[in-house]
Amino acid sequence: MSAHAIDIVAVQPEGLSVDAVAEKMQPHQDRVEELIRRYPVKRAALLQVLWLIQEVYGWVPRVAIKWAAQVCDVSPVHAFSVVEFYTMYKQVPPARFHIRVCQTMTCHLMGANDLVAHVEEKLGIKCGEHTEDGLFALETVECLAACGNAPAVQINDEFLFGPGDELNVLEEGWSPSIEDMDRWIDLLKQRAAADPNAGKVDELGGIMLHSDGHPGAPEACAE
Ligand code: FES
Repeated sequence: MSAHAIDIVAVQPEGLSVDAVAEKMQPHQDRVEELIRRYPVKRAALLQVLWLIQEVYGWVPRVAIKWAAQVCDVSPVHAFSVVEFYTMYKQVPPARFHIRVCQTMTCHLMGANDLVAHVEEKLGIKCGEHTEDGLFALETVECLAACGNAPAVQINDEFLFGPGDELNVLEEGWSPSIEDMDRWIDLLKQRAAADPNAGKVDELGGIMLHSDGHPGAPEACAE
């Protein structure tokens, strides 16, 4: 596989305007209002509004950040800094399988660098790149809060936690090895070949709705 570095500016949808984003997000207006109702100030909903954008678009285009800023009553630069800080917001159209390896201290000590070097070699890409067929992306990230399973690895939004054939099967103290990574990458290739939609639906964990809202929030419905 050959590497494909993504140019953030070049991938921005041509002609996409804030109004067009608003129109696309219109069917989700109830969810936006629900999120805002949870908090005493609109800006507190920013993370989840950005998350909702990612759910709708699959990633967070720059113009959509401006829309989120308007909705949450913050400056565009503030909203942009939030997207920059949290690596789970995707700033480019996603690969079908996005591999994240934690590089923070515990995972570093437990061999994250070796794992990353191996995946880079296997996929023929460097961190921050996509394979040219769009199947895999590789990224190093900060602590994923799975230090007990260091070096922690996520594929899309699921932890690579156990040796079973399912992601997210937690086994206490289990750590992914180079062989495990190989096995998973091969398995995902097979899945992608068998199902053209495999990995395309980004499971974001959803946004739980129907809260009563924060009592101090605008239009709150809580007692
Ligand atoms: Fe890697 Fe916490 S240090 S998950």
